[in-house]
Amino acid sequence: MQKEIVVSGIRPTGNLHLGNYFGAMRNYVRMQEEYNCYFFVADWHSLTTHPDTKELRNSVLDALAENIAAGLDPEKVCLYLQSSIPEIAELYLYLNMMAYKGELEKTATFKDKVRLQPDNANAGLLTYPVLMTADILIHRALYVPVGKDQEQHLEMARNFAQRFNHRYGELFPEPQAFNFGAALIKVPSLDGAGKMSKSENQLATLYLADDDELIRKKVMKAKTDAGPTETNSEMPGYIQNIFQLMSLVSEDSTVQKFRDDFNAASIRYGDMKKALAEDMVKFITPIREKAQAIRSDEAYLQKVIKYGAEKARESARKTIEQTRELIGLNYF
Ligand code: TYM
Repeated sequence: MQKEIVVSGIRPTGNLHLGNYFGAMRNYVRMQEEYNCYFFVADWHSLTTHPDTKELRNSVLDALAENIAAGLDPEKVCLYLQSSIPEIAELYLYLNMMAYKGELEKTATFKDKVRLQPDNANAGLLTYPVLMTADILIHRALYVPVGKDQEQHLEMARNFAQRFNHRYGELFPEPQAFNFGAALIKVPSLDGAGKMSKSENQLATLYLADDDELIRKKVMKAKTDAGPTETNSEMPGYIQNIFQLMSLVSEDSTVQKFRDDFNAASIRYGDMKKALAEDMVKFITPIREKAQAIRSDEAYLQKVIKYGAEKARESARKTIEQTRELIGLNYF
């Protein structure tokens, strides 16, 4: 039986963090055995917000090394760079004819980014979800492992796929956001406000490259309060966040102990954060060390990039041929 096709990407706009890991990369690793996986570094997408490319090469290599360190095997999955596949840009062009200004302007991430960079509301930013759709449809993927923040983009991808199929003939499946049957997740930041992110609130985000001391320092600074004064109190959102982070890296029994303490109104947040910090260190250190070793071998990473590009282009070429044929651009 043919394996189902999976695509997902990460923008190289800064160090990867626990949100990327638990929202996306953990699923990549779990999916690599049973699915036909295409994972890539979205370097074109990064140009929509990071026109200065001095750090780009470094960030791309870091992202590749971190993905491999997290458990991706470039022999099992197709691991590549978006900019290695010109067919994606061609499909993006066709899909742009099916994407309307009104719906693009309404996209939450577009509105957020324009707020952050009002002087650079470029067309690439507006059509970001169209390029993302091209990334997915170029391999005719069915599943897209992503975090909750990408849900709206996936909905748009389904609309664009449907419109293409309707206008020119059935070619693309409607891609689904994927998290092993569970709801998509959002890994919260440590300051009780928003989510972990590559370039915002860096002190409230745990990066896969953080050293042990920095991890401890960030966790110990996480927002708490004096603790509940009554048993079975309602839990404030920022405390729920700490429990959520703990449930990602700590044993169930540890989480349960602090939950019981909270309900008994005897919880000591200092102790909870110490336990969380140690479990975070235990979790992040091996990935960081492995990533450093991989990153120092540029010749190996270049081989990965080249091999990935060949495999990804093979699949992309087939889709583009059929796309041209359906549109009527096959002149000879
Ligand atoms: P990016 O680079 O912002 O994030 C990469 C992946 O990490 C997930 N993620 C999170 N998940 C949970 N909690 C968080 N705090 C958190 N922060 C990030 C994201 O949901 C994502 O899965 N547009 C995409 C990149 C992209 C893409 C694609 C993804 C380009 N083309 C095609 C899938 C398919 C992005 O900006 O991800």
